[in-house]
Amino acid sequence: MEMNLHKNQSAVRTEVINHILLIEINNPPINAGSLAVRSGLRDAIAQLAGAPDLHAGVIIGGGATFMAGSDLREFGQPLQEPQLPSVIAAIEACSKPVVAALHGAALGGGLELALGCDARIALAGTVLGLPEVTLGIIPGAGGTQRLPRRAGLARSLQMVCSGERIKADEAKALRLLDQVVASDLQQHALALAASLTGRKCRIRDESPPTEDAALLAQAAQAALRAGKGRPAVLAAIEAVRDAARLPFDEALARERAVFQQLRVSTEAAALRHQFFAERDAVRLPADVKTPARQIRSVAIIGAGTMGTGIAIAALDAGLSVLLLEQDAAALQRGQERVVAHYQSRVAQGKLQASAAASNEARLQASTDWSALAQADLVIEAVFEEMAVKLEVFRKIDAHARAGAVLATNTSYLDVNAIASATQRPQDVLGLHFFSPANVMKLLEVVRGAQTAPDVLATGMAVGKLLRKMPVLCGNAFGFIGNRIYNAYRKQCEFMLEDGAWPEDVDRALEAFGFAMGPFTVADLSGLDIAWRMRRAATATRDPRERYVAILDGLCEQGRLGRKAGAGYYSYTDGKKSPVSDATVRQLIGAASDKRGIRRAALAAEAIQRRALLAMVNEAALLLADGVAQRASDIDVVLVQGYGFPRWQGGPVFWARQQDRAALEHELQQLALSAGHGFTVADLSPLLNA
Ligand code: NAI
Repeated sequence: MEMNLHKNQSAVRTEVINHILLIEINNPPINAGSLAVRSGLRDAIAQLAGAPDLHAGVIIGGGATFMAGSDLREFGQPLQEPQLPSVIAAIEACSKPVVAALHGAALGGGLELALGCDARIALAGTVLGLPEVTLGIIPGAGGTQRLPRRAGLARSLQMVCSGERIKADEAKALRLLDQVVASDLQQHALALAASLTGRKCRIRDESPPTEDAALLAQAAQAALRAGKGRPAVLAAIEAVRDAARLPFDEALARERAVFQQLRVSTEAAALRHQFFAERDAVRLPADVKTPARQIRSVAIIGAGTMGTGIAIAALDAGLSVLLLEQDAAALQRGQERVVAHYQSRVAQGKLQASAAASNEARLQASTDWSALAQADLVIEAVFEEMAVKLEVFRKIDAHARAGAVLATNTSYLDVNAIASATQRPQDVLGLHFFSPANVMKLLEVVRGAQTAPDVLATGMAVGKLLRKMPVLCGNAFGFIGNRIYNAYRKQCEFMLEDGAWPEDVDRALEAFGFAMGPFTVADLSGLDIAWRMRRAATATRDPRERYVAILDGLCEQGRLGRKAGAGYYSYTDGKKSPVSDATVRQLIGAASDKRGIRRAALAAEAIQRRALLAMVNEAALLLADGVAQRASDIDVVLVQGYGFPRWQGGPVFWARQQDRAALEHELQQLALSAGHGFTVADLSPLLNA
């Protein structure tokens, strides 16, 4: 009985229709090309080849899609036969034509499979692409060889190196598809297969692509730049070029060898880890798995940097937005910023004028609090001061409709205290966006002590609606991201006192892969915010704690960062000096003297390890506190919100690659040099989770 059930649920189902073998892939949710799918396809092709009354085959996806990629879980281990190249080889060796019928997505192995068939037909709206490079590998089943024979070298290079997804219409123009149909995919595919009877049309037999060398060099350079010179990008460029310079089978073998080599690299493992971490991050814990409240209109209070960015994100998602401000001038400035954003997108050709007009039409602005009553969701983005936030939440409570979800965008303040200003703390949560809010993917969804499950579920749903990466966090100082970033920055400041110059630290961390080092970042965002927070905390700071006063010294001299023309670096015409100047070095030297430190240069690797270890330690502490639901969420936060290099997987992934004893030993040393107040975490839960 059980055996039968298993058989019926097989990943590939076949059916004969008018002498055509219909081969349907059934591996929900995305028909990933797993071992079961590959075996099923191989058997089906054998059936087609061996039955004299079968004239052709059609491969089609059951459910929502054709095949949106391979099963990544298999990629960490030796791949089992049949591997995808053997399946495609069987299709090519079969004397009867096979048609690929695409809908939904044909990505990665899905597109490679389709390109290995004799013809391709797709439903309008289907997307096609080879995203392997974004996972640190290259296509390994002929994608780099068959794609250029149709789309040309330069366009293929762009597609393969960026992982770009193209729509069916463009794919048809590139001759990747033979037909695009509006409906009845299966019927049209069967007709196409019948019309091909007796013929094979293998892409492998087509002449290799030739292309203008200059154009190709240009495409390669652009791809390298965009791909930050990562190994997979380099390998992809070479593989695509092989299509023009090597015999087909030789190029195919080379592609496979490179694929196998990259597949087991740490970089590919890091990118797979991040892929799964992002997928898991949006999963709610059991106690909040409840339907979300419906959100159609949003009111945003405070039309400053964050308020306007959030407004754009909400308008882009099709919501109605009301901007609310304390004074008319600020309101007008905010509204103008939103409109200017859309105008510039249109001018750059990135947005249709009609789409911009539709977004602008959904934007309202007011200084009248009674207008709040229409909103399903209220997001507060006023100054980061508790007194101001409390006053604003009292007003929100007075005007918002019953059942509206009330959110604060605070970076550090206590969400419970803010909620307590209302009569409905169950409706209050934190929605911590990152700047620029219409660009940055990360959204920390902060759970207050009294936040209702459906309000949290709504926060996560809003994140998805705004095309963000929502991560659930507990209500603790700095939530996940800022708390870890603070520990990291503090450690970098220790290193200044210990002997490094700002550029040593920045260069080392940029070499690790951060887009910008911490002192360049600090200058860019302005040192005054941190200065203000430090002064506010003076009274409560433990005097025995190691406190680096360099930033305060810079601010006292008016060196507030890039906007002031000087900070850790000096700026001429907005251009950063490559090294810190004499004033800064003197300030840093004096700080070292004061602490009795004899300055000694720090090697780049030592800087990287100290900075990362500080992150890892804080990550373990906040995991133990329950601020993060799962260790991998921390990696998502750092990669999506703080410029941690994706190909390094995040601090947790990094820590798991290191020797545990070495990490613990170095952590003890960090604790010694940090002095009082540095808590050494137990790394076990982080490393073993
Ligand atoms: P901002 O100073 O650019 O904008 C704040 C706006 O709020 C101003 O336009 C002001 O007129 C308005 N406002 C102040 N009091 C008000 C009141 N009582 N009623 C109505 N409007 C009022 O500040 P920004 O940078 O947009 O920050 C806002 C919030 O977002 C803060 O809580 C901040 O910590 C947080 N945040 C800021 C980030 C950033 O990078 N700037 C990143 C993430 C969060």
